[in-house]
Amino acid sequence: MLTIHLIAAARPNFMKVAPLYHALADTDWAEPVIVHTGQHYDFNMSDAFFRDLRLPEPGYHLGVGSGTHAEQTGGVMIAYEKVCIDNRPDCVVVAGDVNSTVACALAATKLHIPCVHLEAGLRSGDRTMPEEINRLATDAICDLLWTPSLDGNEHLQANGVNAERVEFVGNIMIDSFEMMREQIDADTTRQDLGLSERRYALVTLHRPSNVDGADTLSDIVTTLVNVSENLPLVMVAHPRTLASLERHGMRAQLEAAKQLQLLEPLPYIRFMNVVKDARMVITDSGGLQEETTYLGIPCLTMRPNTERPTTIVDGTNRLVTPATLGADVDDVLNAPVIERRQPPQYWDGQTAGRARDSLKRFLNVR
Ligand code: UD1
Repeated sequence: MLTIHLIAAARPNFMKVAPLYHALADTDWAEPVIVHTGQHYDFNMSDAFFRDLRLPEPGYHLGVGSGTHAEQTGGVMIAYEKVCIDNRPDCVVVAGDVNSTVACALAATKLHIPCVHLEAGLRSGDRTMPEEINRLATDAICDLLWTPSLDGNEHLQANGVNAERVEFVGNIMIDSFEMMREQIDADTTRQDLGLSERRYALVTLHRPSNVDGADTLSDIVTTLVNVSENLPLVMVAHPRTLASLERHGMRAQLEAAKQLQLLEPLPYIRFMNVVKDARMVITDSGGLQEETTYLGIPCLTMRPNTERPTTIVDGTNRLVTPATLGADVDDVLNAPVIERRQPPQYWDGQTAGRARDSLKRFLNVR
């Protein structure tokens, strides 16, 4: 049996790692082991996702927690290098673009442990985003790069990456959604919140560029309060956002709006239950841009760029600013509800199987 470390670290990656964990656990050649770096640690940011996605207790918990970028990245490198030296895995799979991704890739590749990047090739072109630096660095050093969409292959080719290192496996987040679809459909969170199908927007914002500074956050809060006069909003807020709202004294303004509900982070099944029936989603999340494209729900992304252009070209995504948001919301409301679209290639719930087969070839398993 080959020991495969799957690096789980932060909320968006639990949904990427879970389908691959289950696919590998079913083989007779791989023993998947979850490594949790502890980048996210609140119950609602971590344990609730393990429970929903039926993941076992991590084999290793590094407990690194929050900090500056260097503290967090360095802390994960030091802790994970020790794990690799004491109990060397046969292969490491890192996912996404968070600080723990690049940290574990650096620690593993320097010990000459084969390292695979799940969700490789995404590029926003915006080097002020910490995730863009993590993507560039991770793709530069990993041995095998699994792309979620063909634009990922194009980005890697433009970066001069040898095509032999790249394999298009598809979007694994969609596997998680399909794996949990029955529970998501059976959940009642939307009704419990008093929301009618297609009569509300779901809001999530957590990028430092949107929520850390008082001026931008104030523009966003004012705009959301205005939008909520015409359309009920449910804002599921990341701890970073809640902390910033408190720090800048803006939480009361949101809570005073009659048709706006401000919530703590929700577990996966409950959250996706609210997403799937929304009229639209307003977000700066990467994963939600993809999930809305898959579900055919209009997505207004509060960012100047996206590393997921396929969600604009082939999907339902549109880039907006706080200044345009009101008009963009009206545009969506005035357009007919989108009939389900053809999702991009390999966004089909079968990505974990393709990744498993690719890994088997990569590791020369007979
Ligand atoms: C990280 C990722 C980002 C991803 C996001 C999803 C990086 C550089 N950023 O950003 O790409 O979209 O996760 O959530 O890796 N906090 C808690 N409890 C937690 C986790 C965080 O209270 O369980 C608070 C802490 O105050 C912490 C802050 O949130 O300082 C930010 O957490 P951090 O992991 O540094 O970055 P995210 O903003 O979550």
